[in-house]
Amino acid sequence: MYALIAGTGFDRFFKPLEEKKIKTPYGTVTVYTLKVKNKKIYYLPRHGIDHSLAPHLINYRANIWALKSLNVDHILSLCAVGSINENFKPGNFVLIRDILDFTKSRISTFYDGQEQELKHLDVSNLYSDFLGKNIEDFLKNQGQQVHQGIYVATEGPRFETAAEIKFYRQIGGDVVGMTGAPEVFLARELNLNYNSLALVTNLCTGIGHGPVDFVSSFDLYQDLLENLLDYLSELNVRNLPDTKFI
Ligand code: HPA
Repeated sequence: MYALIAGTGFDRFFKPLEEKKIKTPYGTVTVYTLKVKNKKIYYLPRHGIDHSLAPHLINYRANIWALKSLNVDHILSLCAVGSINENFKPGNFVLIRDILDFTKSRISTFYDGQEQELKHLDVSNLYSDFLGKNIEDFLKNQGQQVHQGIYVATEGPRFETAAEIKFYRQIGGDVVGMTGAPEVFLARELNLNYNSLALVTNLCTGIGHGPVDFVSSFDLYQDLLENLLDYLSELNVRNLPDTKFI
């Protein structure tokens, strides 16, 4: 079974069929079902169905726990990002390969010695190669350009200062978003295959001219993304990651 977690901009064009309330040790989560051709997949609009949850207020632990408890084994995350890399333009797709985590106030583990014992997670290979390869093949076959990039996770909800972006660029960041962490870490802790496909919506502060300007190119991709969901739902391979703790 696989699930889609969709962020800003993407959430408005997926129409949920049913909803289930899932109780977790971290709170109750509403998980929706989407119909993809004639199959069903689970769906979580990351900011809530009414887009009211700021990035730092999302209950990431409850979300991932709820999906795991529904026997989800693969998660596709769709997110909007700003670009620091001049080769990644608004409207381009970027598959995330690794992450620089600059979030500040979020609980980023299940294994903190409270509900679960204390463990240290190996994060050397966070993003699923299996999903990444399939997403890339699909998009390239559709004539889309797909970049690979390093995601910088910021706290938000404000955008970054020009000085922050200059720093993130110097340390190797390609794109910036507010929700990639701790979602990917929690998914790995529960042994889920996770990958994130980002759509560049803007150039980051100080990269473009003037203030951050969101490009709403999402609607252009509605059919493409529905076909991607359909394509992924056909994949039967169950090569789950081997989560390592120390
Ligand atoms: N910064 C942080 N998050 C974002 C941006 C940005 O420029 N664009 C879309 N999400």
